[in-house]
Amino acid sequence: MVKICCIGAGYVGGPTMAVIALKCPEIEVVVVDIAAPRINAWNSEHLPIYEPGLDDVVNQCRGRNLFFSTDVEKHVAEADIVFVSVNTPTKTQGLGAGKAADLTYWESAARMIADVSKSDKIVVEKSTVPVKTAEAIERILTHNRKGINFDILSNPEFLAEGTAIADLFNPDRVLIGGRETPGGQKAIKTLKDVYAHWVPDERILCTNLWSAELSKLAANAFLAQRISSVNAMSALCEATGADVSQVSHAIGTDTRIGPKFLNASVGFGGSCFQKDILNLVYICECNGLPEVANYWKQVIKVNDYQKTRFVNRVVSSMFNTVSGKKIAILGFAFKKDTGDTRETPAIDVCKGLLGDKANLSIYDSQVTEEQILKDLSMKKFDWDHPAHLQPSSPPTSNKQVSVVSDAYEAIKDAHGICILTEWDEFKKLDYQKVYDNMQKPAFVFDGRNVVDANNLREIGFIVYSIGKPL
Ligand code: NAD
Ligand code: UGA
Repeated sequence: MVKICCIGAGYVGGPTMAVIALKCPEIEVVVVDIAAPRINAWNSEHLPIYEPGLDDVVNQCRGRNLFFSTDVEKHVAEADIVFVSVNTPTKTQGLGAGKAADLTYWESAARMIADVSKSDKIVVEKSTVPVKTAEAIERILTHNRKGINFDILSNPEFLAEGTAIADLFNPDRVLIGGRETPGGQKAIKTLKDVYAHWVPDERILCTNLWSAELSKLAANAFLAQRISSVNAMSALCEATGADVSQVSHAIGTDTRIGPKFLNASVGFGGSCFQKDILNLVYICECNGLPEVANYWKQVIKVNDYQKTRFVNRVVSSMFNTVSGKKIAILGFAFKKDTGDTRETPAIDVCKGLLGDKANLSIYDSQVTEEQILKDLSMKKFDWDHPAHLQPSSPPTSNKQVSVVSDAYEAIKDAHGICILTEWDEFKKLDYQKVYDNMQKPAFVFDGRNVVDANNLREIGFIVYSIGKPL
């Protein structure tokens, strides 16, 4: 029986391993983590992350061939394949601060693997890492060589949150990079056999290590670049009277461009796009390619511009001040169908409005008050570092912020509404009731283009949609 151990029970480690366990009943899969509250939650009825379909998958195999444990060393020692899916945040201090990937967690996991191993292992980079990381990891793994053979593979993950289970069941591709040696090729074959339980052969791509590592950064950079491109167009649409949805549709019907990922928004968020592009920028700079670095840096700059533009629109529309005005924030997660708030544009928008002395009433059905207060009091890039991974760190209260459990409560007596996540619930609100309960003039700033602006205007709202005529 092949034994798999995954270090890191987060958004990637948990769902990915649950699907492997489901599809490969003869493989024992143990997911380990140093964060005991996370492991306890994985072993409870309330999983630590919200992901459609995940409960069902976990319920089918937990206790059968899927286990969650804090006994990291024991399970690593027993495994044949060790996935490393720990966080790889942006460095906050020292060389490369604000750009380079912080590999502290990865390195400590690699040292631990080297220390506790008593048998040969395949070590799989599941985390997103800078290109050439495998070389450093190889050195760490073999530093106290005890005659044990480690084969390193790069197997980056392409799932998106909110659709993780569907993405894992039916991936566009699985990418496996390895050394071009007989040992490396054998390791690739072993991992390929795992995925072959449910992924068709032609969708399992095998490359060298560096191509696999770089492809992950490249894929996220290309995806984010599409959003910044359409968001840049949205500003031009607003200036000219064009409608960004019509422009997206018109360009997306060109099969070379394609229709997906062309929704203009208040900006992209999530734990990876910004971090991975900054990482790419840093690698380009380190390799003496400043022009390439600057090209990708622009993707982040446009995203920051889009968030600032949104805040400025709110303030300027509301007679140049939101001081003391109640603003309802509908949605705080970085996209719908997740409770994840990492790098959500809502943080920057809320901070911008708070800076103009607004009073915010925030509602998101999947995000807790504790999380929102924590996010609003945290410094940039701090969110993915250990102190903040502990749910026990107390949130900082803020007199200007209230977090409520109902959209209508958030809206009551508000001067304006900002829709920051595209939850379906916000399309279905009774907007006549909403209007009746608001201060007048009643403003709606739709950062996700989810409401029917014309209908709302008929009710009496002043509506601002991204990239659309006023
Ligand atoms: P996460 O923060 O949700 O999970 C990482 C987990 O690793 C945490 O629970 C942390 O406690 C644990 N950990 C850290 N150091 C450890 C150690 N030494 N031993 C044991 N456990 C340790 O992160 P995530 O969102 O799952 O992302 C993990 C990696 O996958 C990152 O590199 C990310 O870029 C990449 N990725 C994420 C996504 C996504 O949608 N979130 C998608 C693709 C790739
Ligand atoms: C993204 C990628 O889609 C995954 O392939 C990748 O594995 C993952 O990053 C990662 O490496 O972490 P994710 O961040 O979960 O997945 O979600 P996306 O659906 O890509 O959305 C990211 C952000 O872009 C969200 O804030 C979303 O609202 C925004 N977005 C997306 C737009 O503003 N417009 C669009 O057309 C699409």
